[in-house]
Amino acid sequence: MKKIDIIALPGDGIGPEVTTVALNVLKAVCNRYHTELNVTELPFGGICYEQYGEPVTDEIIDACKKTKIVLLGAVGGPQWDDLNAGKRPEAALLRLRKELGVFANLRPIQVHPALAGASTLKQEVIEGTDFLIVRELTGGIYFGQPRYTSEENGDPFSVDTMRYSRSEVQRVARVAFDAARLRNGRVCSVDKANILESSRMWRKSVLEVAEEYPDVELTHMLVDNCAMQIIRDPKQFDVMVTGNLFGDILSDAASMLTGSLGMLPSASVGGENGLYEPVHGSAPDIAGKGVANPLAAVASAAMLCRYSLKMEEAAQNIEEAILKVLGSGLRTGDLYTNETGTILANTSDVADLLLKAVSEEETVS
Ligand code: IPM
Ligand code: MN
Repeated sequence: MKKIDIIALPGDGIGPEVTTVALNVLKAVCNRYHTELNVTELPFGGICYEQYGEPVTDEIIDACKKTKIVLLGAVGGPQWDDLNAGKRPEAALLRLRKELGVFANLRPIQVHPALAGASTLKQEVIEGTDFLIVRELTGGIYFGQPRYTSEENGDPFSVDTMRYSRSEVQRVARVAFDAARLRNGRVCSVDKANILESSRMWRKSVLEVAEEYPDVELTHMLVDNCAMQIIRDPKQFDVMVTGNLFGDILSDAASMLTGSLGMLPSASVGGENGLYEPVHGSAPDIAGKGVANPLAAVASAAMLCRYSLKMEEAAQNIEEAILKVLGSGLRTGDLYTNETGTILANTSDVADLLLKAVSEEETVS
């Protein structure tokens, strides 16, 4: 048995519920490939704040850096919304991304045929949608300095800074171009170059990288138009690359093509490190009720197999198990639409079927 260490940060809200399912599926699949996962669970976000007075500690950050592979649930909740910026659960997530150096966040948008009816959009618009959002994750307005709040003539104001350097843009652009080579060979770079200096730097830097990839087709799209195109004709996209803020917003919008934000996984990569997290948040309204959709967390675990463990077949096994669940008609509340042949399910129903699906496949010698 090969042994691999990973860190799990279940976090807040539905985070622990969905992370447990993802870990069980991940362990079961890895076992089939004679790989034993040694999982260390650590507190992160609001739950960490309750324990240590900080949403993450230096020790926890160090453990993640040392282990290099991190599976995260979700962070945040209303009880921590009034804390100072630096104490909020979200601050822990930004720090972790930055310290791990995971500058490229991959968010695949795939419409499963079985779910085409679950989207609020017309079936013919979304059917066959399959694109990848590459969101820059450790720069832009999330991290730019200066950032402060002050006052002028009795009128308080706040400043955030959107900053991109050529090297920051080019390294994430290369991730997008490399991904396009393994897909349909097209990259769409999204910016606001008609207004923003940082976007003009973005576009110029992407154009330079494109010269290294003559086999990949590059187009540019303004972010406002892109928001519209995602719901007008999502099939036009192959790989989309964009900055931190635009990628955050566009990926939530794109998630609805798939029926639910509860379906969207993500992988954040950079150097040797990988951070895997569902795109959905902590959903405090349904936390602890056993009704959360674990599929985004499970699909994130598949991405962990693919990118950090380099176990492509294991990744596909997990993805096939997800398809089996959807094919069986089981739907958690976020996906359930009363369609014939579907059954309203809770988290554990989905978990049981996933585990059954992955264990039915034969052990690989
Ligand atoms: C996401 C989330 C985070 C982000 C929050 C929780 C900090 O919305 O991963 O999309 O804005 O990046
Ligand atoms: Mn987001």
